[in-house]
Amino acid sequence: MSEKSNAQRLAELNDAAELGGGQARIDRQHDAGKLTARERIDLLLDPGTFVELDKFVTNRCNDFGMDEKKIPGDGVVTGYGKVDGRVIYVFAQDFTVFGGSLSGAYAEKICKVMDLAVKCGAPVIGLNDSGGARIQEGVVSLAGYADIFYRNVQSSGLVPQISAIMGPCAGGAVYSPAITDFIFMVKESSYMFITGPEVVKTVTSQEVTKQELGGAAVHSEKSGVSHFECSSEEECIAAIRELLSFIPSNNAEDPPFLPTDDPADRRDEALNTLVPENASRPYDMTELISHVVDDRYFFEVQKDYARNIVIGFARLGGFPVGIVANQPNHLAGCLDINASLKSARFVRFCDAFNIPILTFVDVPGFLPGVDQEYGGIIKHGAKLLFAYAEATVPKITVITRKAYGGAYDVMSSKHIGADINLAYPTGEIAVMGPDGAVNIIFRKELAAADDPVSKKDELVADYRETFANPFKAAELGYIDEIIEPMETRPRLIQSLEMLQNKRTDSPPKKHGNIPL
Ligand code: HXC
Repeated sequence: MSEKSNAQRLAELNDAAELGGGQARIDRQHDAGKLTARERIDLLLDPGTFVELDKFVTNRCNDFGMDEKKIPGDGVVTGYGKVDGRVIYVFAQDFTVFGGSLSGAYAEKICKVMDLAVKCGAPVIGLNDSGGARIQEGVVSLAGYADIFYRNVQSSGLVPQISAIMGPCAGGAVYSPAITDFIFMVKESSYMFITGPEVVKTVTSQEVTKQELGGAAVHSEKSGVSHFECSSEEECIAAIRELLSFIPSNNAEDPPFLPTDDPADRRDEALNTLVPENASRPYDMTELISHVVDDRYFFEVQKDYARNIVIGFARLGGFPVGIVANQPNHLAGCLDINASLKSARFVRFCDAFNIPILTFVDVPGFLPGVDQEYGGIIKHGAKLLFAYAEATVPKITVITRKAYGGAYDVMSSKHIGADINLAYPTGEIAVMGPDGAVNIIFRKELAAADDPVSKKDELVADYRETFANPFKAAELGYIDEIIEPMETRPRLIQSLEMLQNKRTDSPPKKHGNIPL
C-alpha cells in the first residue's frame, strides 16, 4: 500500500480543520440561528484577506479520552486579515469543537495573535462563543485564561481590543472581554454571567433565565457591560467594522481621516433655536450633535445605558472625534454614578488612542439622593474628573445651556485642562440654578416678605441676570468665546485644526491612582 503523500496529508488536515466539530454540529449551530467561526471571520474581513495561523494545532490532553479526540485547530480559528484595507488580528471561538471550550493549546493560539498584534500595532478582534474552561484539561485551561487576561491588560492602550459575544460566555471567561475596549452582544443568542441560573437559584433562591441574567439587553441597559446590542450576527459584525473606521490601529497612530463633502464652514441655522430658552425644557442632545458633525452622522456607543449622558464617535472636517454630551432629555442631563462610569471610560479610550474629545455641556449638577451617595457617587464622579484631567488629546468644550456646580468643573472645564471652551449665549454657568440659589442666600428675606412669591420671582430674575449667563465666565477667560449656535461646526473644525499639533509633557511617573 502506498504511503499518503504530504500533499494528500495537507489536504486532509485542511479539510478536517475546516469541518471543525463536523457537519452535524455545524447544522446545530445554524439551527440555533448562529454562524460558524469561519463564517463570522469571512463576514468581518475584506474578501480573500484572511490568513489562518495554527490551523493544525491540537489539544495536548491525555485525560478523559481526549488523546483520542484531536481536532485540528482545537476549537478556535485564529489569524490576521484586513478591514477596509487595514490589518487586524482575529480569533473566533468554534462552538462546534468541544463547545468552543478553552484548552491550553487553544489559549496559546489566542496569545500568539495577541502578541503579534502588539508587536505590529494592529487591533485584536475576539469573536466569543464558548462553554468556558475545557473541563477535561483542568488547571491547564485556567492557566490559559490567565495568560490571555495578562495580555489583555498589557495590550490595553497599545492596540484597540474588541470583543463580540455571539454565544455563551460564562464564569471567569467573561474577564477577557471585560478588559477589552468594546463589547458587542447579539440579542437572544448571547449571554455573559459570572455564575449561571442554576448557581443563582441554589445560592439566592432566585429563578432567572440565561437571558434575564446576562443577555444582551441586560448588559446594554442595566449593567453597562456591553457597548452595542445587535439584532443579528451580521449587524454585529458590520458595527465592528464601522467602529474600526473611527479608531487608529495603535496608540502611535492618528485616527483615520475620511474626506467629506460636508463643507467645513457650514452654518446651521436650526441650531439657533434648538436649545429652548426656557431652562427647564428638555431637548435631544443627539439632534444637536447631528447638526454639527460631518454628514450629520453620529455613531453612538452604549446608547441604552445611562441615557443621561451620550457618548460616541463622529467626524469633523474628516477627522474622527469622540463626543461626550449631557442629555437633557433624560434625568435633565444630571451626572450620576452610571453616567460618570460610562463617560470616564470613553474619555480614557479616546485619550489612549489619540482621538480628540469634544464635550457638549448641559448639566444641572450631580444627581442628589441617598442611593447615589451610598453607591459612591463621590468616587465614581471623581473618575470622570480624573479621566478628563489626565487626557492629553485636544479637548474642546461647548456649553449649550446649564453648567452648574461641580459638574461645570468636571465636564471638561478650562480649569481641568480643556484647550478651547465655547459657550452659547444660552449658557448658564454658576454654582447652582437660580431657584436653589435664591432659596439659600435669601432665606431670611423670603421669610420676611409680604408677598414671598413675587419677591422670589424678583430675586430669581436678578440672580439669572447676574450669574445664569456665560458673560461672567467669558470676562474671566474661562470661556474663550461665546458663539452663535449656528457657528458651532465651523468653529469646532477651526479649533481642531488649530490643535492638531498639540504637545504635552508631564513629569514621568509609573501611573496615577484613578479612584477605582
Ligand atoms: C468541555 C464542553 C464544555 C466545556 C461544552 N462542552 N462545554 N466540553 N468543556 N466547558 C461540549 C459538550 O460536551 C458538547 O459536546 C458540546 O460542547 C456542546 O455542548 P452542549 O451542552 O451540547 O451545548 P448546549 O446545549 O448548547 O449548551 C451549551 C452550554 C453547556 C450552556 C455552554 O455546554 C454548558 O453548560 N457547558 C458547561 C459550561 C461550564 O460549566 N463551563 C465551565 C465554566 S467555569 P458534544 O461532544 O456532545 O458535542 C469556567 C471557568 C473559567 O469556564 C475560568 C477562567 C478564569
